[in-house]
Amino acid sequence: MKKLVAGLIGLSVLTSIPATAGDNQQEIERKIREIADKYGCSTCHDIDQPKNSVPFRIIAKEYQGKPNAVENLVKSIKGASFAKWQKIGPEKYGVKPRAIYMPRQRSIPEEEAKKIVELILSLDTSKVQVKK
Ligand code: HEC
Repeated sequence: MKKLVAGLIGLSVLTSIPATAGDNQQEIERKIREIADKYGCSTCHDIDQPKNSVPFRIIAKEYQGKPNAVENLVKSIKGASFAKWQKIGPEKYGVKPRAIYMPRQRSIPEEEAKKIVELILSLDTSKVQVKK
């Protein structure tokens, strides 16, 4: 079982990298903004500034290295997401989002959702502080 879990984690880390390997952080941020502006995500999310919801860099910090992160986040975007972050407790990242519900995002195609999730998970989170 341990081996299986480790394998799955390894797999999800691998699958979250290829599209963006080699890109520098500026390029990753530029691509995220491009997609987020195009599909209206920017109304509620910024990369670093808290808006209606948690900044993408904090979402990255929470999910990097977690099994099936890409699939689960795409599901949240295309399905809807309710109160997950209340459970996560965003205070540990020093933010308090105004909204707890993300309606399902109809305008963004599945492949674009996957692309932005992969980009988000490629953000440099080494400077994100986590309060214990
Ligand atoms: C109307 C505001 C709003 C818009 C527009 C919006 N979001 Fe969100 N988003 C939220 C809120 C609120 C949450 C937290 C939901 C929760 O706690 O379950 C969230 C959560 C997320 C998460 C984390 C989901 C999880 O499972 O933890 C991702 C990734 C995300 N949004 C990406 C996007 C993308 C990409 C778009 C554009 C296609 C988008 N959002 C548009 C409000 C929004």
